[in-house]
Amino acid sequence: MFLAGNDLPQRWQSQDHFQIAELGFGTGLNFLETWRQWCRHRRPGQHLDYTSFEAYPLDAQAIIRAISVWPDLSELAEKLVQHLPDLNRSPTVWNLDHQTTLTIIKAQALEGVGNWPQKADAWYLDGFSPQLNRDMWSSRLMEQVFAHTHVIGTFATYTSAGWVRRNLQSSGFNVKKIPGHGTKRHMLVGVRELL
Ligand SMILES: C[S@@+](CC[C@H](N)C(=O)[O-])C[C@H]1O[C@@H](n2cnc3c(N)ncnc32)[C@H](O)[C@@H]1O
Repeated sequence: MFLAGNDLPQRWQSQDHFQIAELGFGTGLNFLETWRQWCRHRRPGQHLDYTSFEAYPLDAQAIIRAISVWPDLSELAEKLVQHLPDLNRSPTVWNLDHQTTLTIIKAQALEGVGNWPQKADAWYLDGFSPQLNRDMWSSRLMEQVFAHTHVIGTFATYTSAGWVRRNLQSSGFNVKKIPGHGTKRHMLVGVRELL
């Protein structure tokens, strides 16, 4: 899971501000589970920024329909779509509660990340499978992801294809293959080390 692969919620304990970035917002499932965990673990005064790069945003109905199979998340999903602005405007910034900001940047990932003026503490790399969507795993994009990662920042992905691993390594990450969950036998996690 993306949270555990980035050593969350543990890392939240030592930072007042934490920036997560994601490739592919999709139904918002990752965001909603992260928000749920964040609401449980945060302390007063801390802030979570979650930025997702998505080229083909879904509408509110599609999000609610998809999330309805996860009853634990339905309340937060309702809150998410309540004020759902036009996702085709970009960027879309929501202050979902006083400690949580969600930003969705509607763009091709390479362009969106390349122009992003910030860096992430943790990345969720969640493009479709590399066989179907090579663009989401290209060496150019992985270089941009690395360039937009704070030192000791991390990433996690359910993809474990060898060429994706090599792209992540040659961009600069220290990459490890670890056991996955369910149908995903392996996942990749990595860190941008000090040097
Ligand atoms: C596996 S889904 C993401 C699932 C999502 N993280 C969730 O929690 O529901 C992959 C997403 O990547 C988006 N996508 C595909 N190619 C893209 C690209 N080149 N740039 C940006 N987004 C892209 C798709 O529209 C899709 O929503």
